[in-house]
Amino acid sequence: MTPAQLNAQFGIAGQLVFEEGQGGLTFARIDNAQGEAVLCLQGAHLVSWRPKDQAEPVVWVSDLAKYAPGKSIRGGAPVCWPWFGAHKTESGFPGHGYARTVPWAVTGSAVLADGATEITLTLIENDQARAQWPHNTRVELRAVVGAKLTLSLTTTNQGDAPVEIGEALHTYLRIGDIGEIAITGLEGCTYLDKVDGGQRKTQAGAVTCTGEVDRVYVNTTAACVIEDARLKRNVLIEKTGSAATVVWTPWTEKADKMGDFGPDGWRRMVCVESANAADNVVTVAPGQSHTLTAVYSAQTL
Ligand code: BG6
Repeated sequence: MTPAQLNAQFGIAGQLVFEEGQGGLTFARIDNAQGEAVLCLQGAHLVSWRPKDQAEPVVWVSDLAKYAPGKSIRGGAPVCWPWFGAHKTESGFPGHGYARTVPWAVTGSAVLADGATEITLTLIENDQARAQWPHNTRVELRAVVGAKLTLSLTTTNQGDAPVEIGEALHTYLRIGDIGEIAITGLEGCTYLDKVDGGQRKTQAGAVTCTGEVDRVYVNTTAACVIEDARLKRNVLIEKTGSAATVVWTPWTEKADKMGDFGPDGWRRMVCVESANAADNVVTVAPGQSHTLTAVYSAQTL
């Protein structure tokens, strides 16, 4: 659908407008009394979110992010689905699945009772997707933008055999400085340390960063808090339907290699990802649905 058609069917006066933006991609701009956000229809990729009581956005996007058909955007909240990280057997398949780089269709929009704005999207299957994922599934992303941000990813198995999915809401959170944050909520958890050959380790105390961190914490349904001394705020990440949490910062060398962080962009973000990955991939029975939900909020200290 064109932006004009989307506006006619799903636009909400003063709150939700669709427009063509960088790379010829279509974006939904949401602005209400409580918050503002931008969402790219490619990938159902929330690009940014700022609650109105915060001077700084809570969801970070790189100044050097590339917006182009078939490319993932550096920052925001990439939807990793239907696998997380590398595909189990096919090294040629894209990391974190294909959902984040294909077009999604808008299927609904609404103003909720508390004034927040809701938008719902469904992944559009194409031949490339079918070749990599020969299953009959429907996947939907629901975003609610207000003083809090809610992202819900629902997979419905429409086939007649169980399907196994890995997934993550790979959210990049804006922070003051990567060296000055502490992430609580993962104390005592087992994690797979991807910067140390995938070894299993146990988290002692809060997570702090002094170099690259790439960890899949397994068997954890707990909320996490990013304590941000520089921005003087706590960012709370609550979740349901998610048994793994991924923490990632590329640090300087990896960020330089990736090329789309800018000179110090990597210092201003950390990913705390609500996931089902590694030990915690999910099996969805025929006719059943599974929903992963993450709710983000910020509290000024
Ligand atoms: C994290 C992974 O979730 O995403 C990292 O744990 C990976 O290993 C990072 O480098 C970024 O991935 P991508 O594909 O968006 O560059």
